[in-house]
Amino acid sequence: MHILITGGAGFIGSHVVRHFLKSYPSYTITNLDKLTYAGNLANLRDVESNPNYRFVRGDITDGDFLLQLFQENQFDGVIHLAAESHVDRSIANPTEFVVTNVLGTVNLLNAARASWQSDYEGKRFYHISTDEVYGSLGSEGLFTEETSYDPHSPYSASKASSDHFVRAYHDTFGIPVVISNCSNNYGSFQFPEKLIPLFINNIVNRKPLPVYGKGENIRDWLWVVDHAQAIDVIFHQGKSGETYNIGGHNEWSNIDLIRLLCRIMDGKLGRPSGESEKLVTYVTDRAGHDLRYAIDSSKLQRELGWVPSISFEKGLELTVEWYLSNAEWLDDVTSGGYQRYYEEMYGNR
Ligand code: NAD
Ligand code: TYD
Repeated sequence: MHILITGGAGFIGSHVVRHFLKSYPSYTITNLDKLTYAGNLANLRDVESNPNYRFVRGDITDGDFLLQLFQENQFDGVIHLAAESHVDRSIANPTEFVVTNVLGTVNLLNAARASWQSDYEGKRFYHISTDEVYGSLGSEGLFTEETSYDPHSPYSASKASSDHFVRAYHDTFGIPVVISNCSNNYGSFQFPEKLIPLFINNIVNRKPLPVYGKGENIRDWLWVVDHAQAIDVIFHQGKSGETYNIGGHNEWSNIDLIRLLCRIMDGKLGRPSGESEKLVTYVTDRAGHDLRYAIDSSKLQRELGWVPSISFEKGLELTVEWYLSNAEWLDDVTSGGYQRYYEEMYGNR
């Protein structure tokens, strides 16, 4: 089996590449990534010499390049993670999100369709999406697979649009697709612009912790390793044309999460209790800030037997320990040094 994983140098993608290489030694994995600011080949140092792993630097917004890549390779499956992924950046530059997330996804669907030529036996196109397409919840209820799409940010609107195109290619052309919509991930190798790694980095450096609004927004956090396991199960056993929600049954208001994080960090850094929390600084709220996300993942549990493996307290502690013992990774990412890694490893190609 030869699988194309897009966005494999990013946060979740690197965990998915690692998971598939370790779990399926007979598979060939091609990682296609443009290496934007969010792509970092150092995330995959431990697997880069695996003979079944290949990295291709390329841009999913380039349709001709994708057609050629699919012509040169017989991919049996695609796991599509490449995207612009940060809500704040989508507010600053919405167009980039349309081009990468919508056009890039359509280009990939076109390349898969051209390559597979209506012979879909054993083929699968798996699109990785987000719970943010469902919009925002009040204090009650959960997102199910039947919840209507109601995206509010340019990021979630672009992901919603790409989800619709994936379904449209299934319904119109018969491509065997599967989609999952996952809640907020946390864990190692996450770019320190997202809440948890940003705040870990700021606490280490005694910098302010910018809490948007009152910190009352709620997110449902899932350990990235559990997400990779869910992706494995859905890729292999999910029904074509279906959507699966993935979540941690783990709702935290931002401020409660930040307080927990501060407590763990005080302990790990040997600082007096309460020291890190003094860095909390309330700042202007994010425009269009969704109040609450919470996922009902009972379909995935019932039909495919997946459940998260660890508690949030344990996962967060492991995550903090990882960032503290990988200070070089964090320094490299925050200083931009990681962007030299590709040239050092692969030369200027
Ligand atoms: P990320 O920003 O860490 O990584 C994205 C990767 O895509 C990077 O390696 C980047 O270089 C690559 N990329 C971007 N534009 C590209 C292009 N034009 N061509 C090729 N590669 C390109 O993102 P992430 O947090 O790992 O998210 C991965 C996927 O999972 C995204 O589709 C995102 O919408 C989805 N998702 C993320 C979360 C989360 O909490 N992070 C939750 C649910 C769903
Ligand atoms: P983020 O990690 O950007 O994920 P998303 O917006 O996709 O949920 O943000 C998680 C939550 O934390 C969200 O409610 C916004 C909030 N937040 C802050 O309060 N301050 C920050 O500096 C960041 C990056 C996020």
